[in-house]
Amino acid sequence: MPTLRFLGDESWTVDVEEGVTVLEAAEICGARVGSSCGGQCACSTCHVYVAKGLDTLNEITEQEDERLDMAFDVKPESRLGCQTVVGHQDLDITISEESTKAWYDEHPEERNKQ
Ligand code: FES
Repeated sequence: MPTLRFLGDESWTVDVEEGVTVLEAAEICGARVGSSCGGQCACSTCHVYVAKGLDTLNEITEQEDERLDMAFDVKPESRLGCQTVVGHQDLDITISEESTKAWYDEHPEERNKQ
């Protein structure tokens, strides 16, 4: 079972089955990855950076590529969490600032706890 480590304004670690998306893994462990469109590849709020394991992931599609163009601070290791499928290897994921911000917009009650 691959282990995913998320780094954002906190850090989270979770073991998941191959085939789940990075966004689903984030939701399992509570990592703060935004998902304004509900994982439909229609926004860019699930933008993450894959610091380790990028070459073990599914190919980026044209649709994902187009959506990533809408994101801020895009890097070669950028992916959309809802379109990125976990393979057989561990991943280190850094959550983009815009994604963390989107998550708090989606969970305003959590912002008040800070
Ligand atoms: S949640 Fe909207 S593109 Fe991933």
